[in-house]
Amino acid sequence: MDGVEEVKSRLSVEDVIGEYVQLKRAGRNWRGLSPWTSEKTPSLMVSPDKQIWHDFSSGKGGNIFSFVMELEGLDFKGALELLARKAGVDLEQYRTSGPSRGPSKEKLYQANELAAHFYQAQFIKSRVAIDYVSKKRQFTGDTTLAWRLGYSPNTGSALVDYLKSKKFTPDEIKRAGLANSYGKDMFRGRLMIPLADGQGRIIGFTARILDEGEPKYINTSATVLYDKSRHVYGLHLAKEAIRKNNYVVLSEGNLDVIASHQAGVKNVVATAGTALTSQHLKALARFTSDIRLAFDADKAGLAATERAIPLASQAGVSLSIISIPSGKDPDELIKQDKSKWLEIIEKPKYALDWLVEQYEKRLDLTGARGKREFSDVLLPVVKQLDDKVEQDHYLNQIAKILDVSASSLTEKMAGASEPISAPRRRAKEPAKLTDDERQIAEKNKIEEHLLAILMNQPKLLKSANLVTTKMLSSAAQKAWRVVNQPNYDPKKPVQNLDDYDKILGLEFEELYQGLGVDELTYEVQRLQSRLIEKYSKTRKSEIASELASADDLRSEQLLAEAKKLDNLLKQAIERRE
Ligand code: UTP
Ligand code: MN
Repeated sequence: MDGVEEVKSRLSVEDVIGEYVQLKRAGRNWRGLSPWTSEKTPSLMVSPDKQIWHDFSSGKGGNIFSFVMELEGLDFKGALELLARKAGVDLEQYRTSGPSRGPSKEKLYQANELAAHFYQAQFIKSRVAIDYVSKKRQFTGDTTLAWRLGYSPNTGSALVDYLKSKKFTPDEIKRAGLANSYGKDMFRGRLMIPLADGQGRIIGFTARILDEGEPKYINTSATVLYDKSRHVYGLHLAKEAIRKNNYVVLSEGNLDVIASHQAGVKNVVATAGTALTSQHLKALARFTSDIRLAFDADKAGLAATERAIPLASQAGVSLSIISIPSGKDPDELIKQDKSKWLEIIEKPKYALDWLVEQYEKRLDLTGARGKREFSDVLLPVVKQLDDKVEQDHYLNQIAKILDVSASSLTEKMAGASEPISAPRRRAKEPAKLTDDERQIAEKNKIEEHLLAILMNQPKLLKSANLVTTKMLSSAAQKAWRVVNQPNYDPKKPVQNLDDYDKILGLEFEELYQGLGVDELTYEVQRLQSRLIEKYSKTRKSEIASELASADDLRSEQLLAEAKKLDNLLKQAIERRE
Protein backbone atom coordinates (compact mmCIF):
# COMPACT_ATOMS: atom_id res chain seq x y z
CA MET A 1 0.00 0.00 0.00
CA ASP A 2 1.34 3.46 -0.75
CA GLY A 3 0.83 6.66 1.25
CA VAL A 4 -2.18 7.75 -0.78
CA GLU A 5 -3.93 4.41 -0.28
CA GLU A 6 -3.11 4.36 3.42
CA VAL A 7 -4.59 7.83 3.90
CA LYS A 8 -7.68 6.85 1.89
CA SER A 9 -8.16 3.72 3.94
CA ARG A 10 -8.07 5.65 7.21
CA LEU A 11 -10.22 8.63 6.36
CA SER A 12 -13.75 8.43 5.16
CA VAL A 13 -15.02 10.99 2.71
CA GLU A 14 -17.88 11.88 5.05
CA ASP A 15 -15.49 12.58 7.93
CA VAL A 16 -13.20 14.75 5.87
CA ILE A 17 -15.99 16.78 4.29
CA GLY A 18 -17.92 16.81 7.56
CA GLU A 19 -15.17 18.92 9.06
CA TYR A 20 -15.90 21.68 6.60
CA VAL A 21 -19.56 21.30 5.81
CA GLN A 22 -22.42 20.23 8.00
CA LEU A 23 -23.71 17.00 6.49
CA LYS A 24 -27.07 15.41 6.92
CA ARG A 25 -28.20 11.95 6.03
CA ALA A 26 -30.07 11.55 2.77
CA GLY A 27 -30.77 7.87 2.35
CA ARG A 28 -27.51 6.06 1.74
CA ASN A 29 -25.74 9.33 1.09
CA TRP A 30 -24.98 12.52 2.96
CA ARG A 31 -26.01 15.94 1.80
CA GLY A 32 -24.81 19.47 2.64
CA LEU A 33 -24.66 23.05 1.44
CA SER A 34 -22.11 23.65 -1.28
CA PRO A 35 -19.17 25.64 0.11
CA TRP A 36 -18.65 27.18 -3.33
CA THR A 37 -21.97 28.89 -3.72
CA SER A 38 -24.27 30.69 -1.32
CA GLU A 39 -27.11 28.27 -1.90
CA LYS A 40 -29.97 27.59 0.48
CA THR A 41 -30.84 24.09 -0.70
CA PRO A 42 -28.08 21.54 -0.29
CA SER A 43 -26.56 20.23 -3.49
CA LEU A 44 -23.34 18.75 -2.18
CA MET A 45 -23.72 14.97 -2.17
CA VAL A 46 -21.34 12.63 -0.39
CA SER A 47 -21.41 8.92 -1.02
CA PRO A 48 -19.94 6.73 1.74
CA ASP A 49 -20.35 3.64 -0.45
CA LYS A 50 -18.39 5.08 -3.31
CA GLN A 51 -16.17 7.32 -1.16
CA ILE A 52 -16.70 10.24 -3.47
CA TRP A 53 -18.46 13.58 -3.42
CA HIS A 54 -20.17 15.67 -6.02
CA ASP A 55 -21.34 19.24 -5.87
CA PHE A 56 -24.26 19.60 -8.22
CA SER A 57 -24.28 23.39 -8.04
CA SER A 58 -20.70 23.94 -9.15
CA GLY A 59 -20.17 20.69 -11.01
CA LYS A 60 -17.09 19.85 -8.94
CA GLY A 61 -16.57 16.38 -7.58
CA GLY A 62 -14.07 13.69 -6.73
CA ASN A 63 -12.46 12.06 -3.69
CA ILE A 64 -11.07 13.37 -0.37
CA PHE A 65 -7.95 14.74 -2.02
CA SER A 66 -9.77 16.74 -4.65
CA PHE A 67 -12.11 18.15 -2.00
CA VAL A 68 -9.26 19.44 0.14
CA MET A 69 -7.42 20.71 -2.95
CA GLU A 70 -10.48 22.67 -4.03
CA LEU A 71 -11.40 24.04 -0.65
CA GLU A 72 -7.97 24.76 0.80
CA GLY A 73 -6.49 25.83 -2.51
CA LEU A 74 -3.73 23.23 -2.28
CA ASP A 75 -1.99 21.15 -4.90
CA PHE A 76 -2.16 17.37 -4.65
CA LYS A 77 0.99 17.09 -2.56
CA GLY A 78 -0.26 19.71 -0.11
CA ALA A 79 -3.64 17.99 0.20
CA LEU A 80 -1.96 14.63 0.75
CA GLU A 81 0.24 16.06 3.50
CA LEU A 82 -2.71 17.70 5.23
CA LEU A 83 -4.81 14.56 5.13
CA ALA A 84 -1.88 12.35 6.16
CA ARG A 85 -1.49 14.46 9.30
CA LYS A 86 -5.18 14.09 10.01
CA ALA A 87 -5.00 10.34 9.48
CA GLY A 88 -1.83 9.92 11.52
CA VAL A 89 0.00 8.52 8.52
CA ASP A 90 3.72 9.15 8.37
CA LEU A 91 4.40 9.74 4.69
CA GLU A 92 8.13 9.39 5.32
CA GLN A 93 7.52 5.68 5.62
CA TYR A 94 6.45 5.46 2.04
CA ARG A 95 9.42 7.26 0.56
CA THR A 96 11.32 4.63 -1.39
CA SER A 97 14.77 5.86 -0.43
CA GLY A 98 16.59 8.52 1.56
CA PRO A 99 18.04 8.73 5.03
CA SER A 100 14.85 9.99 6.75
CA ARG A 101 12.80 6.88 6.07
CA GLY A 102 11.05 5.93 9.31
CA PRO A 103 10.55 2.48 10.74
CA SER A 104 7.68 0.40 9.44
CA LYS A 105 4.44 0.27 11.38
CA GLU A 106 5.07 -3.40 11.99
CA LYS A 107 8.29 -2.51 13.79
CA LEU A 108 6.44 0.02 15.96
CA TYR A 109 3.78 -2.54 16.89
CA GLN A 110 6.52 -4.96 17.87
CA ALA A 111 8.25 -2.37 20.05
CA ASN A 112 5.00 -1.54 21.86
CA GLU A 113 4.12 -5.20 22.30
CA LEU A 114 7.54 -5.95 23.78
CA ALA A 115 7.25 -2.92 26.04
CA ALA A 116 3.86 -4.08 27.36
CA HIS A 117 5.36 -7.45 28.05
CA PHE A 118 8.39 -5.94 29.75
CA TYR A 119 6.19 -3.76 32.00
CA GLN A 120 4.06 -6.77 32.95
CA ALA A 121 7.17 -8.68 33.97
CA GLN A 122 8.37 -5.72 36.04
CA PHE A 123 4.98 -5.44 37.71
CA ILE A 124 5.18 -8.93 39.12
CA LYS A 125 8.47 -8.01 40.78
CA SER A 126 7.29 -4.70 42.21
CA ARG A 127 5.71 -4.75 45.66
CA VAL A 128 4.59 -1.09 45.46
CA ALA A 129 2.90 -1.60 42.12
CA ILE A 130 1.11 -4.77 43.21
CA ASP A 131 -0.05 -3.09 46.41
CA TYR A 132 -1.31 -0.07 44.54
CA VAL A 133 -3.29 -2.13 42.06
CA SER A 134 -4.68 -4.73 44.43
CA LYS A 135 -5.26 -2.65 47.56
CA LYS A 136 -5.79 0.92 46.45
CA ARG A 137 -7.58 0.16 43.17
CA GLN A 138 -8.96 -3.22 44.26
CA PHE A 139 -8.25 -4.92 40.96
CA THR A 140 -8.03 -8.70 40.89
CA GLY A 141 -5.27 -10.75 39.29
CA ASP A 142 -7.58 -11.59 36.39
CA THR A 143 -8.36 -7.95 35.77
CA THR A 144 -4.69 -7.01 35.92
CA LEU A 145 -3.89 -9.67 33.38
CA ALA A 146 -6.82 -8.96 31.05
CA TRP A 147 -5.89 -5.28 30.80
CA ARG A 148 -2.18 -6.10 30.80
CA LEU A 149 -1.37 -3.66 33.59
CA GLY A 150 2.32 -3.19 34.20
CA TYR A 151 4.97 -1.20 35.98
CA SER A 152 7.76 0.92 34.57
CA PRO A 153 10.91 0.79 36.70
CA ASN A 154 12.44 4.05 37.81
CA THR A 155 15.99 3.44 36.66
CA GLY A 156 16.26 5.75 33.67
CA SER A 157 16.63 3.49 30.70
CA ALA A 158 15.52 0.00 31.68
CA LEU A 159 13.08 -0.33 28.79
CA VAL A 160 15.31 1.36 26.23
CA ASP A 161 18.17 -0.98 27.16
CA TYR A 162 15.87 -3.97 26.91
CA LEU A 163 14.59 -2.97 23.47
CA LYS A 164 18.13 -2.30 22.27
CA SER A 165 19.05 -5.82 23.33
CA LYS A 166 16.19 -6.94 21.10
CA LYS A 167 17.83 -5.10 18.17
CA PHE A 168 15.63 -2.00 18.12
CA THR A 169 17.41 1.22 17.13
CA PRO A 170 17.11 4.42 19.21
CA ASP A 171 15.14 5.97 16.37
CA GLU A 172 12.63 3.14 16.35
CA ILE A 173 12.23 3.28 20.11
CA LYS A 174 11.63 7.00 19.97
CA ARG A 175 9.15 6.76 17.12
CA ALA A 176 7.26 4.08 19.00
CA GLY A 177 6.74 6.72 21.70
CA LEU A 178 8.76 4.78 24.27
CA ALA A 179 11.78 7.08 24.71
CA ASN A 180 11.99 10.79 25.46
CA SER A 181 14.07 13.24 23.46
CA TYR A 182 17.17 12.31 25.48
CA GLY A 183 16.79 8.70 24.48
CA LYS A 184 15.83 7.66 28.04
CA ASP A 185 12.70 5.82 29.12
CA MET A 186 9.57 7.84 28.53
CA PHE A 187 7.79 6.29 31.52
CA ARG A 188 9.38 5.74 34.91
CA GLY A 189 8.07 4.51 38.24
CA ARG A 190 4.47 4.44 37.02
CA LEU A 191 1.55 2.08 36.69
CA MET A 192 1.46 1.25 32.98
CA ILE A 193 -1.88 0.97 31.21
CA PRO A 194 -1.45 -0.23 27.63
CA LEU A 195 -3.62 1.34 24.92
CA ALA A 196 -4.78 -1.08 22.25
CA ASP A 197 -6.36 -0.68 18.85
CA GLY A 198 -9.59 -2.41 17.87
CA GLN A 199 -7.79 -5.70 17.35
CA GLY A 200 -6.01 -5.52 20.68
CA ARG A 201 -2.60 -4.59 19.29
CA ILE A 202 -0.71 -2.27 21.64
CA ILE A 203 -0.25 1.22 20.19
CA GLY A 204 0.80 3.24 23.25
CA PHE A 205 0.47 3.71 27.00
CA THR A 206 -1.02 5.87 29.63
CA ALA A 207 0.93 5.87 32.87
CA ARG A 208 -0.26 6.79 36.37
CA ILE A 209 1.91 7.92 39.22
CA LEU A 210 1.63 5.49 42.15
CA ASP A 211 1.18 8.06 44.85
CA GLU A 212 0.09 11.66 44.76
CA GLY A 213 1.99 14.01 42.47
CA GLU A 214 2.08 15.86 39.21
CA PRO A 215 1.47 15.03 36.51
CA LYS A 216 -0.92 12.31 37.59
CA TYR A 217 -0.92 10.72 34.16
CA ILE A 218 1.42 10.89 31.23
CA ASN A 219 0.50 9.50 27.84
CA THR A 220 2.24 8.41 24.69
CA SER A 221 2.52 11.45 22.47
CA ALA A 222 1.22 11.25 18.90
CA THR A 223 2.94 8.50 16.94
CA VAL A 224 2.21 6.81 13.66
CA LEU A 225 0.19 4.26 15.64
CA TYR A 226 -1.47 6.41 18.28
CA ASP A 227 -3.71 9.42 17.80
CA LYS A 228 -5.58 10.43 20.93
CA SER A 229 -8.35 12.19 19.05
CA ARG A 230 -9.50 8.94 17.50
CA HIS A 231 -8.48 6.36 20.06
CA VAL A 232 -11.24 4.88 22.22
CA TYR A 233 -9.82 3.19 25.29
CA GLY A 234 -11.06 -0.33 25.95
CA LEU A 235 -12.93 -0.83 22.69
CA HIS A 236 -11.19 -4.14 21.93
CA LEU A 237 -12.57 -5.64 25.13
CA ALA A 238 -15.90 -3.83 25.08
CA LYS A 239 -17.20 -4.25 21.55
CA GLU A 240 -18.99 -7.53 22.08
CA ALA A 241 -20.86 -6.17 25.07
CA ILE A 242 -21.67 -2.94 23.24
CA ARG A 243 -23.26 -4.90 20.40
CA LYS A 244 -25.15 -7.13 22.78
CA ASN A 245 -26.52 -4.32 24.98
CA ASN A 246 -26.87 -1.94 22.06
CA TYR A 247 -25.51 0.99 24.03
CA VAL A 248 -22.14 2.18 25.18
CA VAL A 249 -21.08 4.06 28.28
CA LEU A 250 -18.34 6.57 27.64
CA SER A 251 -16.32 7.53 30.71
CA GLU A 252 -13.35 9.83 31.13
CA GLY A 253 -10.82 7.64 32.84
CA ASN A 254 -9.04 4.44 31.86
CA LEU A 255 -9.37 3.10 35.37
CA ASP A 256 -13.10 3.77 35.34
CA VAL A 257 -13.34 1.44 32.36
CA ILE A 258 -11.35 -1.29 34.06
CA ALA A 259 -13.33 -0.98 37.30
CA SER A 260 -16.62 -1.23 35.43
CA HIS A 261 -15.54 -4.30 33.46
CA GLN A 262 -14.44 -5.94 36.70
CA ALA A 263 -17.89 -5.17 38.10
CA GLY A 264 -19.41 -7.02 35.15
CA VAL A 265 -20.49 -4.01 33.06
CA LYS A 266 -18.41 -4.43 29.96
CA ASN A 267 -19.99 -2.05 27.46
CA VAL A 268 -17.84 0.75 28.86
CA VAL A 269 -15.02 2.63 27.15
CA ALA A 270 -13.23 5.98 27.63
CA THR A 271 -11.89 8.94 25.74
CA ALA A 272 -8.98 9.22 28.08
CA GLY A 273 -7.13 12.50 28.40
CA THR A 274 -8.81 14.35 25.58
CA ALA A 275 -12.05 16.00 24.53
CA LEU A 276 -14.65 13.98 22.71
CA THR A 277 -14.27 14.25 18.94
CA SER A 278 -16.48 13.29 16.04
CA GLN A 279 -13.95 10.55 15.26
CA HIS A 280 -14.56 8.99 18.66
CA LEU A 281 -18.29 9.06 17.99
CA LYS A 282 -17.89 7.56 14.54
CA ALA A 283 -15.76 4.76 15.98
CA LEU A 284 -18.54 3.97 18.45
CA ALA A 285 -21.34 4.46 15.94
CA ARG A 286 -20.10 1.32 14.19
CA PHE A 287 -21.41 -0.66 17.17
CA THR A 288 -24.35 1.32 18.49
CA SER A 289 -26.12 4.63 18.11
CA ASP A 290 -26.92 4.93 21.81
CA ILE A 291 -24.04 6.69 23.50
CA ARG A 292 -24.20 7.49 27.19
CA LEU A 293 -21.71 9.87 28.75
CA ALA A 294 -20.53 9.27 32.28
CA PHE A 295 -18.62 12.53 32.66
CA ASP A 296 -18.09 14.66 35.72
CA ALA A 297 -21.03 16.95 36.31
CA ASP A 298 -18.65 19.81 36.99
CA LYS A 299 -18.14 22.89 34.87
CA ALA A 300 -15.88 21.07 32.43
CA GLY A 301 -18.48 18.36 32.07
CA LEU A 302 -21.08 20.95 31.11
CA ALA A 303 -18.87 22.48 28.45
CA ALA A 304 -17.95 19.04 27.16
CA THR A 305 -21.63 18.15 26.83
CA GLU A 306 -22.41 21.41 25.01
CA ARG A 307 -19.73 20.60 22.47
CA ALA A 308 -20.74 16.96 22.20
CA ILE A 309 -24.43 17.53 21.37
CA PRO A 310 -23.88 18.94 17.87
CA LEU A 311 -21.18 16.36 17.15
CA ALA A 312 -23.62 13.62 18.05
CA SER A 313 -26.39 15.22 16.03
CA GLN A 314 -24.12 15.24 13.00
CA ALA A 315 -22.88 11.71 13.53
CA GLY A 316 -26.49 10.57 13.76
CA VAL A 317 -26.11 9.06 17.22
CA SER A 318 -28.22 9.65 20.27
CA LEU A 319 -26.37 11.17 23.19
CA SER A 320 -27.46 10.96 26.78
CA ILE A 321 -25.96 11.68 30.16
CA ILE A 322 -25.53 9.39 33.13
CA SER A 323 -25.78 11.34 36.36
CA ILE A 324 -23.18 10.20 38.81
CA PRO A 325 -23.72 11.28 42.42
CA SER A 326 -21.73 14.48 42.83
CA GLY A 327 -17.98 14.52 43.29
CA LYS A 328 -17.52 10.95 42.14
CA ASP A 329 -16.36 9.12 39.09
CA PRO A 330 -17.51 5.65 38.01
CA ASP A 331 -14.53 3.98 39.67
CA GLU A 332 -15.29 5.52 43.07
CA LEU A 333 -18.98 4.80 42.76
CA ILE A 334 -18.38 1.17 41.85
CA LYS A 335 -16.06 0.70 44.80
CA GLN A 336 -18.66 2.17 47.10
CA ASP A 337 -21.85 0.70 45.66
CA LYS A 338 -21.72 -1.46 42.57
CA SER A 339 -25.50 -1.78 42.31
CA LYS A 340 -25.85 2.00 42.08
CA TRP A 341 -23.66 1.95 38.96
CA LEU A 342 -25.79 -0.76 37.37
CA GLU A 343 -28.85 1.29 38.18
CA ILE A 344 -27.80 4.69 36.83
CA ILE A 345 -26.41 3.50 33.51
CA GLU A 346 -29.89 2.19 32.70
CA LYS A 347 -31.48 5.59 33.32
CA PRO A 348 -29.58 8.17 31.31
CA LYS A 349 -31.04 11.58 30.58
CA TYR A 350 -31.20 12.82 27.01
CA ALA A 351 -28.26 15.24 26.63
CA LEU A 352 -30.11 18.43 25.82
CA ASP A 353 -32.69 17.88 28.57
CA TRP A 354 -29.83 17.36 30.95
CA LEU A 355 -28.14 20.55 29.80
CA VAL A 356 -31.32 22.59 30.20
CA GLU A 357 -31.79 21.16 33.68
CA GLN A 358 -28.20 21.94 34.71
CA TYR A 359 -28.46 25.57 33.64
CA GLU A 360 -31.85 25.92 35.24
CA LYS A 361 -30.22 24.90 38.51
CA ARG A 362 -27.20 27.12 38.13
CA LEU A 363 -28.66 30.39 36.93
CA ASP A 364 -31.16 32.76 38.50
CA LEU A 365 -33.80 32.83 35.81
CA THR A 366 -35.98 35.47 37.38
CA GLY A 367 -33.87 38.39 36.15
CA ALA A 368 -32.95 39.65 32.68
CA ARG A 369 -29.31 38.73 33.14
CA GLY A 370 -29.97 35.09 33.98
CA LYS A 371 -32.36 34.81 31.08
CA ARG A 372 -29.81 36.23 28.71
CA GLU A 373 -27.09 33.87 29.95
CA PHE A 374 -29.40 30.90 29.74
CA SER A 375 -30.36 31.62 26.15
CA ASP A 376 -26.78 32.55 25.26
CA VAL A 377 -25.61 29.01 26.07
CA LEU A 378 -28.56 27.00 24.91
CA LEU A 379 -29.62 28.64 21.67
CA PRO A 380 -26.39 27.89 19.77
CA VAL A 381 -26.79 24.25 20.77
CA VAL A 382 -30.44 24.14 19.72
CA LYS A 383 -29.57 25.89 16.48
CA GLN A 384 -27.26 23.05 15.52
CA LEU A 385 -29.84 20.32 15.92
CA ASP A 386 -30.42 18.52 12.68
CA ASP A 387 -34.03 17.76 13.33
CA LYS A 388 -36.39 20.73 12.91
CA VAL A 389 -39.15 19.23 15.01
CA GLU A 390 -36.72 18.67 17.82
CA GLN A 391 -35.42 22.19 17.43
CA ASP A 392 -38.93 23.54 17.71
CA HIS A 393 -39.60 21.48 20.79
CA TYR A 394 -36.61 22.96 22.61
CA LEU A 395 -37.35 26.50 21.50
CA ASN A 396 -40.79 26.22 23.00
CA GLN A 397 -39.45 24.65 26.13
CA ILE A 398 -36.86 27.39 26.62
CA ALA A 399 -39.48 30.04 25.93
CA LYS A 400 -41.63 28.56 28.65
CA ILE A 401 -38.82 28.36 31.17
CA LEU A 402 -37.79 31.95 30.52
CA ASP A 403 -41.33 33.19 30.13
CA VAL A 404 -40.53 34.96 26.87
CA SER A 405 -42.08 34.53 23.44
CA ALA A 406 -40.87 31.76 21.16
CA SER A 407 -40.58 34.26 18.32
CA SER A 408 -38.05 36.39 20.19
CA LEU A 409 -36.01 33.28 20.76
CA THR A 410 -36.22 32.31 17.11
CA GLU A 411 -34.95 35.76 16.27
CA LYS A 412 -32.10 35.55 18.73
CA MET A 413 -31.24 32.09 17.49
CA ALA A 414 -30.95 33.32 13.92
CA GLY A 415 -28.19 35.63 15.11
CA ALA A 416 -26.57 33.04 17.40
CA SER A 417 -22.99 32.23 16.59
CA GLU A 418 -22.12 29.59 14.04
CA PRO A 419 -21.60 26.02 15.22
CA ILE A 420 -18.56 25.63 17.42
CA SER A 421 -17.86 22.12 16.39
CA ALA A 422 -18.30 22.19 12.66
CA PRO A 423 -17.52 25.63 11.35
CA ARG A 424 -18.90 25.89 7.89
CA ARG A 425 -15.85 27.04 6.05
CA ARG A 426 -16.60 28.96 2.93
CA ALA A 427 -14.32 28.68 -0.05
CA LYS A 428 -13.05 31.84 -1.67
CA GLU A 429 -15.80 33.91 -3.25
CA PRO A 430 -16.94 32.18 -6.39
CA ALA A 431 -15.56 34.08 -9.36
CA LYS A 432 -18.14 35.66 -11.60
CA LEU A 433 -18.47 33.60 -14.74
CA THR A 434 -18.23 35.11 -18.17
CA ASP A 435 -20.98 34.29 -20.66
CA ASP A 436 -18.78 31.78 -22.44
CA GLU A 437 -17.85 30.07 -19.21
CA ARG A 438 -21.46 29.81 -18.19
CA GLN A 439 -22.33 28.25 -21.53
CA ILE A 440 -19.59 25.69 -21.06
CA ALA A 441 -20.69 24.92 -17.49
CA GLU A 442 -24.26 24.41 -18.67
CA LYS A 443 -23.17 22.17 -21.48
CA ASN A 444 -21.02 20.11 -19.12
CA LYS A 445 -23.99 19.60 -16.88
CA ILE A 446 -26.16 18.40 -19.76
CA GLU A 447 -23.43 15.98 -20.83
CA GLU A 448 -23.11 14.69 -17.31
CA HIS A 449 -26.80 14.04 -16.95
CA LEU A 450 -26.96 12.34 -20.32
CA LEU A 451 -23.99 10.11 -19.59
CA ALA A 452 -25.27 9.37 -16.10
CA ILE A 453 -28.33 7.81 -17.70
CA LEU A 454 -26.48 6.05 -20.48
CA MET A 455 -23.85 4.54 -18.24
CA ASN A 456 -26.59 3.05 -16.09
CA GLN A 457 -28.97 2.19 -18.94
CA PRO A 458 -26.83 1.56 -22.04
CA LYS A 459 -29.93 0.29 -23.83
CA LEU A 460 -31.05 3.88 -24.21
CA LEU A 461 -28.04 4.71 -26.40
CA LYS A 462 -30.21 4.40 -29.48
CA SER A 463 -32.25 7.35 -28.26
CA ALA A 464 -29.10 9.46 -28.30
CA ASN A 465 -28.00 8.51 -31.80
CA LEU A 466 -27.71 12.11 -32.98
CA VAL A 467 -24.90 12.73 -30.53
CA THR A 468 -21.38 12.49 -31.93
CA THR A 469 -18.11 12.30 -30.05
CA LYS A 470 -16.88 15.68 -31.19
CA MET A 471 -19.82 17.45 -29.52
CA LEU A 472 -18.58 16.38 -26.12
CA SER A 473 -15.99 17.76 -23.72
CA SER A 474 -12.93 15.60 -23.16
CA ALA A 475 -14.05 14.06 -19.85
CA ALA A 476 -17.39 13.14 -21.36
CA GLN A 477 -15.77 11.77 -24.51
CA LYS A 478 -13.99 9.10 -22.49
CA ALA A 479 -17.22 7.98 -20.86
CA TRP A 480 -19.02 8.15 -24.20
CA ARG A 481 -16.49 5.77 -25.74
CA VAL A 482 -16.91 3.42 -22.81
CA VAL A 483 -20.70 3.18 -23.09
CA ASN A 484 -20.43 2.71 -26.84
CA GLN A 485 -18.31 -0.41 -26.47
CA PRO A 486 -20.48 -3.37 -27.50
CA ASN A 487 -19.52 -5.37 -24.40
CA TYR A 488 -20.06 -2.50 -21.93
CA ASP A 489 -21.68 -3.73 -18.70
CA PRO A 490 -22.88 -1.16 -16.17
CA LYS A 491 -22.40 -3.63 -13.34
CA LYS A 492 -18.68 -3.98 -13.93
CA PRO A 493 -16.21 -1.35 -12.70
CA VAL A 494 -14.73 0.85 -15.39
CA GLN A 495 -11.02 1.53 -15.71
CA ASN A 496 -9.35 4.83 -16.53
CA LEU A 497 -12.24 7.16 -15.90
CA ASP A 498 -10.73 8.75 -12.76
CA ASP A 499 -13.93 8.38 -10.75
CA TYR A 500 -15.99 10.12 -13.45
CA ASP A 501 -18.06 6.93 -13.71
CA LYS A 502 -18.64 6.95 -9.95
CA ILE A 503 -19.73 10.56 -10.01
CA LEU A 504 -22.13 9.71 -12.80
CA GLY A 505 -23.42 6.79 -10.77
CA LEU A 506 -24.08 9.08 -7.84
CA GLU A 507 -25.71 11.61 -10.13
CA PHE A 508 -27.95 8.94 -11.59
CA GLU A 509 -29.08 7.88 -8.13
CA GLU A 510 -29.69 11.45 -7.16
CA LEU A 511 -31.64 12.49 -10.24
CA TYR A 512 -33.18 9.49 -11.89
CA GLN A 513 -33.50 6.67 -9.39
CA GLY A 514 -36.94 5.10 -9.65
CA LEU A 515 -37.85 6.43 -13.08
CA GLY A 516 -39.17 3.99 -15.65
CA VAL A 517 -37.77 3.32 -19.12
CA ASP A 518 -40.30 5.62 -20.82
CA GLU A 519 -39.45 8.56 -18.63
CA LEU A 520 -35.73 7.96 -19.04
CA THR A 521 -36.07 7.67 -22.81
CA TYR A 522 -37.81 11.00 -22.92
CA GLU A 523 -35.12 12.50 -20.70
CA VAL A 524 -32.37 11.18 -23.00
CA GLN A 525 -34.09 12.77 -25.98
CA ARG A 526 -34.53 16.03 -24.17
CA LEU A 527 -30.89 16.09 -23.09
CA GLN A 528 -29.79 15.18 -26.59
CA SER A 529 -31.59 18.14 -28.12
CA ARG A 530 -30.29 20.53 -25.47
CA LEU A 531 -26.77 19.27 -25.98
CA ILE A 532 -27.01 19.75 -29.72
CA GLU A 533 -28.46 23.18 -29.16
CA LYS A 534 -25.51 24.21 -26.97
CA TYR A 535 -22.98 22.62 -29.24
CA SER A 536 -24.44 24.19 -32.32
CA LYS A 537 -24.45 27.62 -30.70
CA THR A 538 -20.75 27.58 -29.81
CA ARG A 539 -19.78 25.87 -33.03
CA LYS A 540 -21.69 28.44 -35.06
CA SER A 541 -19.97 31.37 -33.46
CA GLU A 542 -16.65 29.69 -34.25
CA ILE A 543 -17.82 29.20 -37.83
CA ALA A 544 -18.82 32.85 -38.05
CA SER A 545 -15.41 34.09 -37.02
CA GLU A 546 -13.60 31.62 -39.23
CA LEU A 547 -15.74 32.65 -42.21
CA ALA A 548 -14.35 36.19 -42.00
CA SER A 549 -10.97 35.06 -43.28
CA ALA A 550 -11.78 31.81 -45.10
CA ASP A 551 -11.17 31.21 -48.83
CA ASP A 552 -14.01 30.09 -51.08
CA LEU A 553 -13.56 26.38 -50.61
CA ARG A 554 -13.33 26.65 -46.83
CA SER A 555 -16.36 28.96 -46.78
CA GLU A 556 -18.38 26.32 -48.62
CA GLN A 557 -17.42 23.69 -46.06
CA LEU A 558 -18.22 25.94 -43.14
CA LEU A 559 -21.61 26.95 -44.49
CA ALA A 560 -22.45 23.32 -45.15
CA GLU A 561 -21.51 22.47 -41.58
CA ALA A 562 -23.73 25.24 -40.24
CA LYS A 563 -26.62 23.96 -42.30
CA LYS A 564 -26.08 20.46 -41.02
CA LEU A 565 -26.15 21.73 -37.47
CA ASP A 566 -29.49 23.41 -38.09
CA ASN A 567 -30.88 20.17 -39.47
CA LEU A 568 -29.55 18.14 -36.65
CA LEU A 569 -31.11 20.42 -34.10
CA LYS A 570 -34.42 20.32 -35.90
CA GLN A 571 -34.35 16.53 -35.92
CA ALA A 572 -33.45 16.38 -32.26
CA ILE A 573 -36.31 18.67 -31.31
CA GLU A 574 -38.79 16.72 -33.45
CA ARG A 575 -37.59 13.49 -31.90
CA ARG A 576 -38.40 14.58 -28.41
CA GLU A 577 -41.88 15.81 -29.25
P1 UTP B 1 -9.10 12.15 36.16
O1 UTP B 1 -8.30 13.20 36.83
O2 UTP B 1 -10.58 12.16 36.31
O3 UTP B 1 -8.46 10.81 36.63
O4 UTP B 1 -8.73 12.15 34.62
P2 UTP B 1 -9.08 9.38 36.99
O5 UTP B 1 -9.28 8.58 35.77
O6 UTP B 1 -10.22 9.51 37.93
O7 UTP B 1 -7.84 8.78 37.71
P3 UTP B 1 -7.69 8.33 39.23
O8 UTP B 1 -8.93 7.61 39.58
O9 UTP B 1 -7.45 9.56 40.04
O10 UTP B 1 -6.49 7.46 39.16
C1 UTP B 1 -9.44 11.43 33.65
C2 UTP B 1 -8.51 10.99 32.57
O11 UTP B 1 -7.83 12.09 32.02
C3 UTP B 1 -6.52 11.73 31.69
C4 UTP B 1 -6.34 10.28 32.06
O12 UTP B 1 -6.53 9.47 30.90
C5 UTP B 1 -7.43 10.04 33.05
O13 UTP B 1 -7.84 8.69 33.05
N1 UTP B 1 -5.52 12.56 32.42
C6 UTP B 1 -5.76 12.98 33.68
C7 UTP B 1 -4.34 12.86 31.80
O14 UTP B 1 -4.11 12.48 30.65
N2 UTP B 1 -3.40 13.60 32.48
C8 UTP B 1 -3.60 14.01 33.77
O15 UTP B 1 -2.69 14.64 34.35
C9 UTP B 1 -4.83 13.71 34.35
MN1 MN C 1 -10.89 8.14 39.38
